[in-house]
Amino acid sequence: MHAALEQRCRSLLTELGLIATDNSLEFCRLTGGVASDIVRVSVDGNDICVKFALPKLRVQADWYAPVHRNAAEYAWLEVAADIAPHSAIKLLGRSAHHHGFAMEFLDDNGIYLWKNALLSNAADQGEAGHVGELIGRIQAASTDSDFDTRPFQNSADFMALRIEPYLLHAAASHGEVANELQVLAAQLHESRQVLVHGDVSPKNIFFRHNRAVVLDAECATLGDACFDIAFCLNHLVLKAIHLPGSQVRYWQNIRQLWSCYSPFIIWEAKGTVEARTCRLLPALLLARVDGKSPVDYLKPSERDTARRIALRLIKSPVSCVDELLQCIDALLEDVLP
Ligand SMILES: Nc1ncnc2c1ncn2[C@@H]1O[C@H](COP(=O)(O)OP(=O)(O)O)[C@@H](O)[C@H]1O
Ligand SMILES: [Mg+2]
Repeated sequence: MHAALEQRCRSLLTELGLIATDNSLEFCRLTGGVASDIVRVSVDGNDICVKFALPKLRVQADWYAPVHRNAAEYAWLEVAADIAPHSAIKLLGRSAHHHGFAMEFLDDNGIYLWKNALLSNAADQGEAGHVGELIGRIQAASTDSDFDTRPFQNSADFMALRIEPYLLHAAASHGEVANELQVLAAQLHESRQVLVHGDVSPKNIFFRHNRAVVLDAECATLGDACFDIAFCLNHLVLKAIHLPGSQVRYWQNIRQLWSCYSPFIIWEAKGTVEARTCRLLPALLLARVDGKSPVDYLKPSERDTARRIALRLIKSPVSCVDELLQCIDALLEDVLP
C-alpha cells in the first residue's frame, strides 16, 4: 500500500486514540469504491476500517467533489446508529483534519453485500423490504421537530455529487428530454423535506443477521424523499434489464421495498411521494447509462434497452409503482428474445 496513505491512517488512528505506539499494524487497501480511500487496518489482529474522502473521484469523466462530504457521511451514519442501533455500523470517531473516519470492519462472517446476493441469484431473504423500512424510519425521524438538521445543509454538495453528474449531464446529451430532466433537477435541488442518504445502492448495503447495514452516506443532505427510493429501485430495474428472466424477482423486490417504505411517509400523502418516485426513476435510469457515472455491467444492447425505457417514461410519466412495472414489462417484451 502507498506509504502516504499508510501514514494518514496512522495519524488518524492516533488522533482518535485508537492506537498506541507499541501496537503492531497491518494495512490493506480495499477496492470497490470510487469516491474514497478505504483501508482495513489490523491493530494487534483486530480489524478497523478507515475511510477518507477523495477530492477527485476515480471515474472516467473529470469529477471533483468537496472532501468535507466526509462529515455529512459520518453524521448520517450517526443518525442511522441512533435509529437502528442493532443494524448500523459501529462508529469509532472522525478526524475533521484528515476528512476521514474510523468504523468497525465488517468481516465475512455471515455478512454479505446485497449486490452480490442479487447478481448471484441467491435466495431472497427479504432484503428489499428491510432496506425500505430502514430508509423510511430514518426519513420519518428526520421530520421530527427535534431533529438536528445542521449537518445536512448540503444542497450544494448534492448538486455536485448527484444532480449535475446524473441528471444535468444526461440532459446535455438528450435534448429531447432536457427540459423534463432540468425540471426534476430543480425540484431536487430546492427540496429540504427529509434526510436523504443519496446513494442507496445494493453495492453500499451489507446484510448481517438479516438486518441492513447501509454505508457510504457521502451525499447525505436534506432533500426530496423520493430520491433514495427512486435511486434504489432504479438499481433493481437496471439489474432486471441486465438479467433476462429475472424480472419476476426484481419486480417483487421493488413492490416489497415500496410497501415496507411507504407506511413511514408521514410528512405528505403517500401518493405524491410515489408519483415523484415514478417520475424520477426513469431519469436516473437514463443517467446510469449516459451520465457521468454509468453502471459497469450493462452490455451495449442493454444500454439501448435502458435508454428506450427511460425516454418513454420520462416523456409519458406514470404515477404509481405498479403502473411503472407494467410499463417496463411491456417495453422489455418488445426487445427481449
Ligand atoms: N466498514 C467496512 N467494513 C468492510 N468493508 C467495507 C467497510 N466500508 C466499506 N467497505 C468496503 O469498501 C467498499 C467501498 O466503500 P464505500 O463506503 O461504498 O466507498 P465509496 O464511497 O468509495 O463507494 C464497499 O463496497 C465495501 O466493499
Ligand atoms: Mg460505495
